[in-house]
Amino acid sequence: MKSRPRILMDCDPGIDDAFAIMCALRYCDLAAITTVNGNVSVDNTTRNARHLVHLAGAEVPVHRGAATPMEVLAITADEVHGISGLGDLHVPESPSPESDVPAIDAIIDFCREGGATIVATGPLTNIAQALAKDATLVDRIDRLFWMGGSTTVGNVTEKAEFNAWADPHAVAATFDSGVAITMFGLNLTYQVRMNSEHVAMLRQAATTTSAELADLLDYYSEHGVADDEGQPVHDTCALLGLTHPELFTVAESNIVAHVTDDDRRGMTEVQNHAEAGGQPSADVLVANTADAPAVIDLVINAAVDPLGGPSQ
Ligand code: BDR
Ligand code: CA
Repeated sequence: MKSRPRILMDCDPGIDDAFAIMCALRYCDLAAITTVNGNVSVDNTTRNARHLVHLAGAEVPVHRGAATPMEVLAITADEVHGISGLGDLHVPESPSPESDVPAIDAIIDFCREGGATIVATGPLTNIAQALAKDATLVDRIDRLFWMGGSTTVGNVTEKAEFNAWADPHAVAATFDSGVAITMFGLNLTYQVRMNSEHVAMLRQAATTTSAELADLLDYYSEHGVADDEGQPVHDTCALLGLTHPELFTVAESNIVAHVTDDDRRGMTEVQNHAEAGGQPSADVLVANTADAPAVIDLVINAAVDPLGGPSQ
């Protein structure tokens, strides 16, 4: 049986974030969730995180993070995730409380435990601000697993992915900090898709979580990027890339994060060593391929029973 890594998850739920939270509950020891403006406002991402924790029957502290990016204006993706961030679901006020500790302090506290692993599935605003507030974090973080960026196509512009586009300065600051990162960009996450057969499996299981997540996936398919292969569940890749690395291939890369306010904004460009000015590479890995059917199996198991059974 696999051990369950202790993690902090920084996210902006968000439909695919909801699936990733279920995976975090099932396959990790989820110490805390921090929220950020992204798919919807931080008010909504915080409320949604609390709702999802309660829906799963878990107890995990939820810490509110940044309401705005570091330098650019805030954007959202409610055309994909719904105004609430969870499709057209009416999200009830959750009995699961919001922590008094702000996200940045929660991240710093978590990292001071040492050997910290963070999974981030939204814009990197909180992470960059925590790294700026406490320079020792670079050495205290074992690795940051981030869904964001792309080495190929974008989904906001031709080459920029949403999480990178939403706060490009946070991406640049995080990569420039030297923290160890594995990037799960669109080049990878478009390979892992859930389709109507998977929705049917969730509906047949008919658990509290699977029923709601099936509704979310239907909404997502109607409003996201779906084709015959289905709808990508981007954020689950960063989480499962940590817990099930055997299902992914990764390669060392020099990534240059573009912040300029032009058509390069939000690009995470791979440069070879010479192009990077001969600088020694920071410890950056880029995920390139996934065993998609095995990844989806894990996602479904988590969505059906987030607290269930031994970790696979
Ligand atoms: C990323 O953007 C968000 O809409 C998703 O939740 C995911 O984190 C994909 O580009
Ligand atoms: Ca997300």
